[in-house]
Amino acid sequence: MRLFIVSVSVLLVLFLSCTTSKVVDTFSKCDYFFKRMSPVIPGILKNSVAQDGYKIIYQQYNNRNRFATLYDVKKMIPVFSAYKYTRRQEFERLRKTQWMIESQLEPSSYETNVPFTKQACKGDYHNNTQNVSAGQLFPAIHAADGETAKSTFTLTNSVPQRNNLRNGSWTRMEQQTGEIMDKYCRDQNNKTISAYVLTGALPGNNLLNDRVKIPSHMWMAFCCYNSTEGSWVSKTYWAPNTDTDQGGNKLKSLNELEKFLNETWKKEVKLFYKDCNN
Ligand SMILES: *[C@@H]1O[C@H](CO)[C@@H](O)[C@H](O)[C@H]1NC(C)=O
Ligand SMILES: *[C@@H]1O[C@H](CO)[C@@H](O)[C@H](O)[C@H]1NC(C)=O
Ligand SMILES: *[C@@H]1O[C@H](CO)[C@@H](O)[C@H](O)[C@H]1NC(C)=O
Ligand SMILES: *[C@@H]1O[C@H](CO)[C@@H](O)[C@H](O)[C@H]1NC(C)=O
Ligand SMILES: *[C@@H]1O[C@H](CO)[C@@H](O)[C@H](O)[C@H]1NC(C)=O
Ligand SMILES: *[C@@H]1O[C@H](CO)[C@@H](O)[C@H](O)[C@H]1NC(C)=O
Repeated sequence: MRLFIVSVSVLLVLFLSCTTSKVVDTFSKCDYFFKRMSPVIPGILKNSVAQDGYKIIYQQYNNRNRFATLYDVKKMIPVFSAYKYTRRQEFERLRKTQWMIESQLEPSSYETNVPFTKQACKGDYHNNTQNVSAGQLFPAIHAADGETAKSTFTLTNSVPQRNNLRNGSWTRMEQQTGEIMDKYCRDQNNKTISAYVLTGALPGNNLLNDRVKIPSHMWMAFCCYNSTEGSWVSKTYWAPNTDTDQGGNKLKSLNELEKFLNETWKKEVKLFYKDCNN
């Protein structure tokens, strides 16, 4: 199967034969998770199986798996994207990017430009009055190489994110966690940079274009081997997705994030196997 590139205009859908993604129901031994164990989210992800209304997308680009997304096909936003953070190679900053959508989520008849029914499209974000734009969960600045950076520009990896949050604390925290992972996180041989990252969104009450849920909050967590300490550690942060940037600039513990998700989402989630303890 091939991914479609959606141009700025809703109606212009072009073919591009560069990608094959795999939409499945079960995370099997997925390398993007600590100990290859997926998170547990009651009603959404149970024993690595996506529950009704959710799909697992192995995000491929140029025939390689880049990361994975758990996608809510009714709310048309991801629950989270999972990726492994590694050493970043030098690559040119992407200037002009093309947004992709997931061709395997829709029946093939959607090639006739009908609006997608199971995912957001570029047109949903166009000229909106909600002050949002498509914010990637796996951000391009955490990508190891140029091809992986391009792979993050898929709308199944994106949520309607308030511009002020995106231009403010969220991007700063992405940069800050990148620097921290570069400094401390190594594989168990204490050689190469390595961390397991989960970035997610909580569905809010508002819709974009009468279709796509605007998240109430966004959150992020990483788990890695701290080479300085010689032990497994995790760090997290979250922010409300509001027009005035209310995100802080302090990382929190995994327990604090899980407590927050528990109370706000009303779901007792387990993000990392054994809470990121080896
Ligand atoms: C954007 O939306 C506003 C208000 O709905 C409308 O007046 C304007 O013409 C739109 N612009 C474009 C380029 O579609
Ligand atoms: C969008 O931004 C404008 C101008 O800053 C503001 O007045 C408006 O309340 C914002 N809309 C939403 C939905 O946050
Ligand atoms: C905030 O981000 C949006 C979209 O990413 C951009 O269009 C806008 O110019 C930015 N605003 C500021 C004040 O930087
Ligand atoms: C790693 O360990 C060092 C030494 O205890 C500590 O200063 C640093 O904050 C730790 N980093 C992380 C990401 O836990
Ligand atoms: C990992 O390597 C660094 C530098 O090579 C060294 O300072 C550190 O003590 C090592 N950590 C462990 C847990 O061996
Ligand atoms: C999560 O919420 C449940 C029910 O409200 C509570 O029993 C449990 O202790 C909470 N767990 C955490 C880690 O806050």
